[in-house]
Amino acid sequence: MTTTPIKVPYLDLKAQYCSLKPEIDDALTRVLESGQFVLGQEVSAFEEAFAAYCGAAHCIALNSGTSALHLALLAAGVGLGDEVITVPFTFVASVAAIEYVGARPVLVDINRDSFTIDPVAIERAITARTRAILPVHLYGQPADMDPIMDVARKHSLVVIEDAAQAHGAQYKGRPVGSIGELACFSFYPGKNLGAYGEGGAVTTSNPDFARAIRMLRDWGQDRKYHHVLRGFNYRMEAFQGAILRVKLGHLDQWTETRRSLARKYDQLLPDAGVETPREMPYARHVYHVYTVRTYDRDALQKALHAAGIQTAIHYPVPVHLQPAYADLGYKHGAFKHSESAAGQVLSLPLYPELSPEAVAEVSNEVRRALSTKVHSEV
Ligand SMILES: Cc1ncc(COP(=O)(O)O)c(C=O)c1O
Repeated sequence: MTTTPIKVPYLDLKAQYCSLKPEIDDALTRVLESGQFVLGQEVSAFEEAFAAYCGAAHCIALNSGTSALHLALLAAGVGLGDEVITVPFTFVASVAAIEYVGARPVLVDINRDSFTIDPVAIERAITARTRAILPVHLYGQPADMDPIMDVARKHSLVVIEDAAQAHGAQYKGRPVGSIGELACFSFYPGKNLGAYGEGGAVTTSNPDFARAIRMLRDWGQDRKYHHVLRGFNYRMEAFQGAILRVKLGHLDQWTETRRSLARKYDQLLPDAGVETPREMPYARHVYHVYTVRTYDRDALQKALHAAGIQTAIHYPVPVHLQPAYADLGYKHGAFKHSESAAGQVLSLPLYPELSPEAVAEVSNEVRRALSTKVHSEV
């Protein structure tokens, strides 16, 4: 069997490292020489910088975005018997973390155009047990936060932003991470702000939440070997803090580049027969992924692959139709927009190191692939 050489990879983390090599190597050497490998000065310095970047009073650095969701829910007091409202069209962690604290995920559909939670559907899903709303800023575009915060205020609910894909995104000029009471970030390597390993953080301006999360990530200690809470080992490693601090300095420039490459796709692709992503009027989208829609998704992905272009599907099966979550009790047809998105979306390569020429090449291949099909319009 012959494999097609990759002409345009979906992601190129090595190219980014090469562009930052001296800064990253210095940061790693600093950690090696400090002898402090978990939390410590490098992590605190990153926490301070990232809190300021998000416009939040506190940032607590953790070992993953999943841990961030888990601890944010615990700090908000969500527990056994409570309900948390979120979407099925997300990475599984948004839903899984709700069950980690013993609560029940109550799912509502997304808005077709934004791929984020439909604020109107939230109010219908509220019961006496609802404690929190967990909107996901999917693909790097903030959910429509004003109506979400209004419903939350009306029913005394906590809002926890899942900002795992949205570092630097803005809602009506406000950075994500500063809108809900708590926000959760992932620094998984492929994220817009990615570590060189696992990483995550919670941002909040509530000092009580911040204090609880700081203790919970480190075995619930308020001092060494004094455990006031039942905690976890969710601490960030010093290497990751040092790397993230270097990378944070480049994030705005990378976001600008992502946005300009997205504009280029926006111009070239409608003509090629796919529906391009919509930047909502309230949003500054950071294009963690650039996702198009087409009825011919699987055929398009195959054709691009044959042309040496890597793509991805975020996500092929919504959470309510995953075998592991069958017992949530939702059936096929429960969430029409989530289900149709899962069958139609295709993420094209988009990262700061991608050249505009590569964007043109991908767009041409999309056109070529779809020109041989009849049902390419959504
Ligand atoms: C929307 C969303 N939430 C949560 C997570 C979990 O983050 P992590 O992989 O760092 O645990 C991710 C990671 O991909 C995500 O995309």
